[in-house]
Amino acid sequence: MDGKERIGVLTGGGDCPGLNSAIRAITKTAIKAGYIVIGIRDGWGGILGEKIDLMLLDSINTSGIIDRGGTILGTSRMSPFQLDDGPPRVINNFAKLGLEALVVLGGDGTLSAAARMHQLKLPIVAIPKTIDNDIRGTEYTIGFQTAVQVATDALDRLRSTAASHHRVMILEVMGRDCGWIATYAGMANGADAILIPEILMDQDKIDELCKLLENRRKKGINFSIVVVAEGIKLSGPLANKYEKPSKIHGMGKIIGEIVAECTGLSVRVSSLGYVQRGGTPCAYDRSLATVFGVKAIELIKKRSYGRLVVLQNNKVKDIPIEEVLGGIRKVDLSVYKIAEKFFG
Ligand code: F6P
Repeated sequence: MDGKERIGVLTGGGDCPGLNSAIRAITKTAIKAGYIVIGIRDGWGGILGEKIDLMLLDSINTSGIIDRGGTILGTSRMSPFQLDDGPPRVINNFAKLGLEALVVLGGDGTLSAAARMHQLKLPIVAIPKTIDNDIRGTEYTIGFQTAVQVATDALDRLRSTAASHHRVMILEVMGRDCGWIATYAGMANGADAILIPEILMDQDKIDELCKLLENRRKKGINFSIVVVAEGIKLSGPLANKYEKPSKIHGMGKIIGEIVAECTGLSVRVSSLGYVQRGGTPCAYDRSLATVFGVKAIELIKKRSYGRLVVLQNNKVKDIPIEEVLGGIRKVDLSVYKIAEKFFG
């Protein structure tokens, strides 16, 4: 052994912009503090296998990546708890690698696994990343601001074509269980309606939406913009009439069909999909990833494990990682209500 302590780093779940900025901050800070940094490829999957999939991180291979989308470590949605012997395998491989601690960057699924692995005494420090922004205890997650910017740019572009063709333009954005991207991008664009999973779409809500779109025409405004989070749910008879899309994507199309039928207006639907998860992180996400990465290493230096790095009142703090086991963080409806004031 070289006498230096070793830290492992993994990124799990859906990728997002800002992961590489965080990997860079973690590596450079840890190396300066005298650690060796070992990247584990493809999330929990990389430390579960017979052959552990590694990438030694250093100040050279983490240089020039602050603005690169995705994750140089690769990712997967694998969890140790999907296998009967998954947790002991992780613990054994962690010991084989001679690691002192593991930094886990993830969204809800990856962080829940991290919390449970910490309960099994694995020394973990975690960083929240997901474009969905749905992690408890933090105001923002790495990747969210970039996704909001991409979605806002798309909405702005849709407005000009909506106005030219006198159409209702619907944009479906990501948000499996919550509507943070839809709410913030919709507010930034001045959308005429924003549909989010936190608010069930029953017949009354559909009637309200159609009326709002018709009223705009009566006022003489010949186009509308509607943002739909992919995870919205229909309720009552509507849920039986429209078959749920096989994967999560597709609710935008269903809302499009319903609106076209009830208003007779010309409707077009776009789905932003993975475009909002890829590519260059915005400046905010790069900075957030940097301060989160530095904080993770500070915690490891103090051997303060089982902690999740968070942003609260615009300050970087840390909370027990077990808090993520309480479920995801839904949209703050007081923010949604502000966006709603500008509907129609
Ligand atoms: O976890 C973020 C997220 O972007 C969700 O909003 C989306 O539903 C999901 O990932 C889809 O990811 P994948 O198809 O890669 O599993």
